Amino acid sequence: MTSPFAAAPAAAAIPITFVTKSSWEAVRAALPPQAAQFALANGFAAKPGACLVLPTADGQIAQVLFGLEDEDTRSRDLFRPGALPGLLPSGVYRFANAPHDARLAALAFALGLYRFGRYRKAEAPDVKLVPPDGVDATDILRMADAAMLARDLVNTPSNDMGPAELERAARGLAERFGAEFHCIVGEDLVKQNFPLVHAVGMASTRPPRLIDFTWGDASHPKVTLVGKGVCFDTGGLDLKPSSGMLIMKKDMGGAANVLALAQMVMDAKLKVRLRVLIPAVENAVAGNAFRPLDIFKSRKGITVEIGNTDAEGRLVLADALAAADEEKPDLLIDMGTLTGAARVALGPDLPPVYTHDETLAHDVARHAKAENDPLWRMPLWPAYDSWLDSKVANITNAPSGGFAGSITCALFLQRFVEHAKSWLHLDIYAWTPTAKPARPEGGECQGARALYKLLGERYA
Ligand code: BES
Ligand code: MN
Ligand code: ZN
Repeated sequence: MTSPFAAAPAAAAIPITFVTKSSWEAVRAALPPQAAQFALANGFAAKPGACLVLPTADGQIAQVLFGLEDEDTRSRDLFRPGALPGLLPSGVYRFANAPHDARLAALAFALGLYRFGRYRKAEAPDVKLVPPDGVDATDILRMADAAMLARDLVNTPSNDMGPAELERAARGLAERFGAEFHCIVGEDLVKQNFPLVHAVGMASTRPPRLIDFTWGDASHPKVTLVGKGVCFDTGGLDLKPSSGMLIMKKDMGGAANVLALAQMVMDAKLKVRLRVLIPAVENAVAGNAFRPLDIFKSRKGITVEIGNTDAEGRLVLADALAAADEEKPDLLIDMGTLTGAARVALGPDLPPVYTHDETLAHDVARHAKAENDPLWRMPLWPAYDSWLDSKVANITNAPSGGFAGSITCALFLQRFVEHAKSWLHLDIYAWTPTAKPARPEGGECQGARALYKLLGERYA
């Protein structure tokens, strides 16, 4: 993307003054009388999100007022300044005073500039921000760029984002950073023992594949990222109703988020041996589709009975996780748009995370809060593990009853992780259903920024 930041000297930029209900009286008293009158005439009351452009006496833009919540407001949104790019006239701006968090405000500004422009002129706002003093503009750009990558990948419809196109995107990223890239395609998945990836993907005319790249010094601690790359999820023979299928182009959101995280890690040159594994498939309907009650022997040797062909994400992740786990990584992270149940539990904006590692759980929570990239821990509840029992195979992919669906999915995946020192699982939504400041409607990067900061702290 073109940089949201201006190099211009701050003095030439239009100042944005942040105001709250409680600071507004004092701010207004300090304005030139005409400007104060103009604000009054416009009914500006410093409501959160309210924006007013104040003119000079000769009709130029003097400054901008923007309302924020007071510090103690429970619903305070640290990304509120992300609405600014959509409200401001073209120009170069600077923050005249500190918003609640200048770093997050600048990040929000950058994230709020995003428009998906692949299929029509994007009309991206022509505004730039002088980075606030004391913030690391390079790091903000890195995070914003990664979010744009994830959003573009998710927003691109499935006809232009099948397994091959997802492979191309991953390959491009790997090449840019000198990573070693491999991909196993089609029947080779069977030969190289990825039976579940093959089973889910074989009904599509677009062959399934396992994308695999490795970057960084081999002596550094091994961090492996696994992302669900279901390029379209019809549900398979357990076909989704059209309302449930509508936005299933986003079912490669885990892969998109993993690529976004990998880009940040490689760009920041973190001291890790990074491996990225993405099973890329289309869960399609055809005569050769896998069926309910089919049984497959997974890579790990665990036999899996198909309770529901629509629980395909955990199947492709199972083989990829097993392969990742064979190398005993220091940290194994997987992300995927795995269950509707996660949305029922926590809604679209708050992805559940699962881990047995208490220190990791606390670090994740801390960085999620600090980056305004929320994540919420849910339990790998041991008493529900037996719900995975099958009468004829080792486990089923879809426990009957459907209670605690996000938890039982996490417990399913857990069966394939044995040797990794730590494992973290994210059940993301990767989609913003209705636009909010800094978060345009559509594909979204979730959890990647928090995890980037966590990795940065551990492996700087
Ligand atoms: N990709 C879906 C999960 C999903 C659906 C995420 C809607 C976000 C919005 C996944 O493959 C799926 O279909 N899961 C099933 C699992 C069930 C059959 C056990 C679900 O959640 O209904
Ligand atoms: Mn599904
Ligand atoms: Zn799916």
